[in-house]
Amino acid sequence: MGIFSLITGMPGSSGFGSSSTAEDVTHGIDATNLTVLITGGASGIGLETARVLALRRAHVIIAARNMKAANEAKRLIVEDNETARVDVLKLDLASIASIRSFVDKFNALDLPLNILINNAGIMFCPYQLSDDEIEIQFATNHLGHFLLTNLLLEKMKKTAKDTGIEGRIVNLSSIAHQYTYKGGIRFDKINDESSYSDKKAYGQSKLANILHANELSRRFQEEGVNITANSVHPGLIMTNLMKHSALLMRFLKLFSFFIWKDVPQGAATTCYVALHPNLKGVTGKYFIDCNEMPPSSVAKDQTLARNLWDFSNKLVRSASNKA
Ligand SMILES: NC(=O)c1ccc[n+]([C@@H]2O[C@H](COP(=O)([O-])OP(=O)(O)OC[C@H]3O[C@@H](n4cnc5c(N)ncnc54)[C@H](OP(=O)(O)O)[C@@H]3O)[C@@H](O)[C@H]2O)c1
Repeated sequence: MGIFSLITGMPGSSGFGSSSTAEDVTHGIDATNLTVLITGGASGIGLETARVLALRRAHVIIAARNMKAANEAKRLIVEDNETARVDVLKLDLASIASIRSFVDKFNALDLPLNILINNAGIMFCPYQLSDDEIEIQFATNHLGHFLLTNLLLEKMKKTAKDTGIEGRIVNLSSIAHQYTYKGGIRFDKINDESSYSDKKAYGQSKLANILHANELSRRFQEEGVNITANSVHPGLIMTNLMKHSALLMRFLKLFSFFIWKDVPQGAATTCYVALHPNLKGVTGKYFIDCNEMPPSSVAKDQTLARNLWDFSNKLVRSASNKA
């Protein structure tokens, strides 16, 4: 897979490629027995992922901070497919209190949880701190998903054990993980405003998404847990994600239109990694255009992944103590 297959849509060894859509890659798969939780499922790639997983009969829970958009997303999905099982719950990933309250509400529903899709994200934001005083792109894209995943792990482990069905965690990363601060994650300067770069902070958070999936995968294998964790780059898709860089992105697209995808194509890799039987037992890998690809060498650094895990735990603890 490379630029040629990206442009031409030529399939890779999985049988799918950049032009495959989420419906193509899940064709014939029956997800009736699966419950899926997707963050940021009210718009963009997340909404299409939720729609297609519901089309394959999964019970889909959309976790979103904007409940109006989430209810509208549900309405659109059900309008198209009246048997769709879709629920919406409020979640703000930039707030530890909101994540804890979300998990309490989710647990109160007493549902199983087979698949967790850590999809929500923000990009290229001006410097800002979250409710818990953590740089906003790191807080939303990585730390929120780190805490959410940890709080849902027991539920996922129990579901996998009781049902015998492999659990799957999919982290939405980006090719932008390659463009980060020196050393990958700047543990000692996570909130430093004077050296803040909106682009590198995004890259750092997307690198953290891969390291997080890899460390989860390592822990699951060590514990013998029947859950996989992988990360994906969905491609380049014009969505609300670009709102802080709309002019730049439109300009870039003029010269690079041949490598951009539409939203159904953008949701394909997530749906493939979440549902496809080809990937049974495949874990700790990174996917582009529905095919496994090597991420950057920093993203493969196991020590960095462990350090990020410990650092994230400490950040959550200190933020929780302040609250
Ligand atoms: N589009 C691309 O070209 C591209 C490329 C590489 C990677 N990705 C990754 O793909 C994922 C989905 O992006 P997208 O393109 O579909 O963008 P999008 O349409 O903007 O979707 C992102 C979703 O995340 C939600 N979100 C943002 N902050 C949140 C928070 N604090 N709590 C809960 N939800 C929050 C947004 O909700 P609001 O509407 O309330 O903001 C939105 O529903 C992201 O992780 C992104 O980094 C996208």
